[in-house]
Amino acid sequence: MKPLEIQSVIETPSLRLRPPRLSDAGHLAKLLNDFEVARMTTSIPHPYGLEDAEQFLKSSGEETFIVEHQDHGPIGTIGFSEGEGRRAELGYWIGKPYWGCGFATEAARGALGWAGSVWKRRHVAARHFIDNPASGEVLCKSGFLYTGQVTPSVSKARGEIVPSRWMVWLA
Ligand SMILES: CC(C)(COP(=O)(O)OP(=O)(O)OC[C@H]1O[C@@H](n2cnc3c(N)ncnc32)[C@H](O)[C@@H]1OP(=O)(O)O)[C@@H](O)C(=O)NCCC(=O)NCCS
Repeated sequence: MKPLEIQSVIETPSLRLRPPRLSDAGHLAKLLNDFEVARMTTSIPHPYGLEDAEQFLKSSGEETFIVEHQDHGPIGTIGFSEGEGRRAELGYWIGKPYWGCGFATEAARGALGWAGSVWKRRHVAARHFIDNPASGEVLCKSGFLYTGQVTPSVSKARGEIVPSRWMVWLA
């Protein structure tokens, strides 16, 4: 983890996207030890324990944010990874008790605003498994467009390779 003072905090109408802290591990482990969440991600294993959360928090960079709700506390994470050629890719999850409230869309819009204005990215990639239309909706509502590219991606929790639909967002 980077020192807190050099990481950004992003405020949205009902959420705060803030730097991760080791004390978030309990919250994350509880919400992430859920196959319905993990199965839609590439890298989250199932089952998911406190040690997994601590390891994630220790290794997370300054482009990773805890999604904190003003009443519920931490409800998920959102962040950017860098692939080949510094290609930024957006990833996120929201705990199941908080699905369907618009939080992923609100967080994605906030994070993309930051990526364009602070991180100075002109484009961001994202992908979702073909059986995850909810994530496709989040990305469309956040301004992403489908590229038409479909590639196989591993789902660690499923132990399977699942086709992913790629999308792009332009600042
Ligand atoms: C995908 C996920 C982030 C969505 O979070 P959320 O906070 O519920 O998302 P939002 O409420 O902002 O938007 C979800 C949209 O998907 C729609 N949706 C939900 N289930 C759907 C389905 N089966 N088919 C089509 N649309 C669906 C909702 O209606 C909503 O759109 P609307 O606001 O226009 O009605 C959450 O379900 C999650 O964390 N899933 C597991 C991990 C994951 O998929 N991460 C993303 C990996 S690419």
